[in-house]
Amino acid sequence: MAILPIVEYPNDILIKECEKVTIFDEQLAKLLDDMYETMVENDGVGLAAPQVNVAKKIAIVEIDEETGTLELINPVVLETKGSDVDIEGCLSFPGVYGEVERPYFVKVEAQDRDGNTYVVEAEDFFARAILHEIDHLHGVLFTSKITRYVEEEELEGYEEE
Ligand code: CO
Repeated sequence: MAILPIVEYPNDILIKECEKVTIFDEQLAKLLDDMYETMVENDGVGLAAPQVNVAKKIAIVEIDEETGTLELINPVVLETKGSDVDIEGCLSFPGVYGEVERPYFVKVEAQDRDGNTYVVEAEDFFARAILHEIDHLHGVLFTSKITRYVEEEELEGYEEE
């Protein structure tokens, strides 16, 4: 495995629609493994492929050991419910934090690294992390949704997406 360089804003790859994954091969598996190692190394709770300079619909999320690692390939949001405001950060925006409103619940259909389709339901911070990463795959950055910027001193044990 390898730790990949993180693409920081501003960069065009962060603001474009990513391409759908059609080939589920060793190269995809290696990218997912490298993305995981890169996320852990940077203390992130999620990472999207464009953040490592790959414009494809691939993202990973791991908010804690309990939920485990979620590999989202070609994810589609099927349903959302409720609303919640919480602080977000992003590995592509070092030192930037802000409050973002997102649905409290999300139901997503995606494929795993072997191409099998599955459905995942998540709520609260898990839903938030998933939606933040899916936004990346459409070139949407959390800064476009921040309603209030938060200073680093206000944060307590906060993790980045
Ligand atoms: Co992000």
